[in-house]
Amino acid sequence: MMNYVVMMSTNIMAKANRVYKTKVPVTKNQQVEAEVVDITYQGMGVIKIDNFPIFVIDAIPGEVVQVGITKVLKSYAFGRVIKRVKASPNRAENVDKVAITTGIAPLANLKYEAQLTFKQRQVEQLFKKVNVSVEVNPTIGMTDPTKYRNKAQVPVQMVNGQLETGFYRRGSHKLMPVEDFYIQDPKVDEAVSVTRDVLRDLGISAYDEETHKGVVRHIMARRGFYSHELMVVIITNTKKLPEADNIAAALRAKLPELKSFIHNINNHDTNVIMGQWNETVWGADEIHDQLMGKDFIIGPNSFYQINPQTTAVLYTLAAEKAGLKPTDVVVDAYSGIGTITLSIADQVAKVYGVEVVEDAVLDAEKNAQNNHIDNVEFVTADAPEQMTQWAADGLKPDVVFVDPPRKGLTNELISAVSAMQPKTFVYISCNPATLARDTVQILAEGFHIDGPIQPIDQFPQTTHVESVLIFKR
Ligand SMILES: C[S@@+](CC[C@H](N)C(=O)[O-])C[C@H]1O[C@@H](n2cnc3c(N)ncnc32)[C@H](O)[C@@H]1O
Repeated sequence: MMNYVVMMSTNIMAKANRVYKTKVPVTKNQQVEAEVVDITYQGMGVIKIDNFPIFVIDAIPGEVVQVGITKVLKSYAFGRVIKRVKASPNRAENVDKVAITTGIAPLANLKYEAQLTFKQRQVEQLFKKVNVSVEVNPTIGMTDPTKYRNKAQVPVQMVNGQLETGFYRRGSHKLMPVEDFYIQDPKVDEAVSVTRDVLRDLGISAYDEETHKGVVRHIMARRGFYSHELMVVIITNTKKLPEADNIAAALRAKLPELKSFIHNINNHDTNVIMGQWNETVWGADEIHDQLMGKDFIIGPNSFYQINPQTTAVLYTLAAEKAGLKPTDVVVDAYSGIGTITLSIADQVAKVYGVEVVEDAVLDAEKNAQNNHIDNVEFVTADAPEQMTQWAADGLKPDVVFVDPPRKGLTNELISAVSAMQPKTFVYISCNPATLARDTVQILAEGFHIDGPIQPIDQFPQTTHVESVLIFKR
């Protein structure tokens, strides 16, 4: 039972910059004791000394903690827990400490029910901040909120002369070796560890960001939740993957589910993990998985929802809320490999999808063919530009679905939807901050909110939350 309300603020660090004007009351290495009064969107506990905020990993509201100050800035500081004087009844026991400290699963210290409440409150607060009054339903959670991720993109570094895979420590590019990622499918974790061992055995080096020497930057592994087909991608800084055939032979021997082994090149100085160039070293160019009774091919660069179990719940709910009719014409903007388009196609007359990644559109077209669906049409384009063009061409869909990346919609796209005058506008969002921001403009364009927002826990143990919101004209 929740016996406290998880308090939140949109960006406590930004707020701290405005609030604290007097002398900083703490110094590095000092020890302080205080009650945790808040939790940030990054999942850090907040204690305050003379109203000066200190952010602490693995501290949850209601707890009293002794904290050693590790870093002091002008308006806030960081600390680490030395002793938990009083624990919260919402603290989850026996959780993976590495998952919390690295940030793989920053909310793993909260009991699952409290995580779901945290996410509901987060959505409520963000809408309050933009002065939009809306009811927010309790977050729909998972029965088993661990081991759900079907994909891993794991950095590779040399640590003490040995090639390691793991996760960066929070706020750094220093790798902490990790084998059990807690929220990933164990078969995906296994694929990463096996690939790491094969690279070690063959003496292949990791790429070094500072010296720009070495070979492997990341390992990506993706496994179909229903199909059990496995893809391994080795991302290198070099044009050649040394020992490619030997790596393939070793992976095949050790990973019986392997269907596709790909070499991807990324030689740009960037935080983007995958480059655009792929070569299939062994097996197929893509894997298959099933979602809502349809078969999907998923290429190495294509977006595919990382939690297929909740994705099915999400799409079913979104389609139900949209009240689709057999005569409806629908637009699916940000359509990826066509998962929404194809899952609703048999309920409506026609669906148009628009997606910017060309390979994803090629996959979407193949997916339509493979599932014998012929009332869909996909366009490779920037969604705002294409929607504006469709609106200018006089396309008048009955329903528009949008499922944008975290940065949300643009004003141009919202205006184009408004010009199309659909009776229903379904917004699926993986970032409630941009959803709240966009809602203000959508309302200004003459839509109203139809029913409560439904948060869904696509990303248990992390601070992320997916939401569905319906607008009507
Ligand atoms: C959150 S995903 C949703 C994909 C799909 N609806 C699904 O659930 O699998 C967002 C998609 O938007 C695409 N995207 C990003 N920016 C875009 C843009 N400017 N125009 C069109 N698509 C874009 C991404 O490539 C990605 O496939």
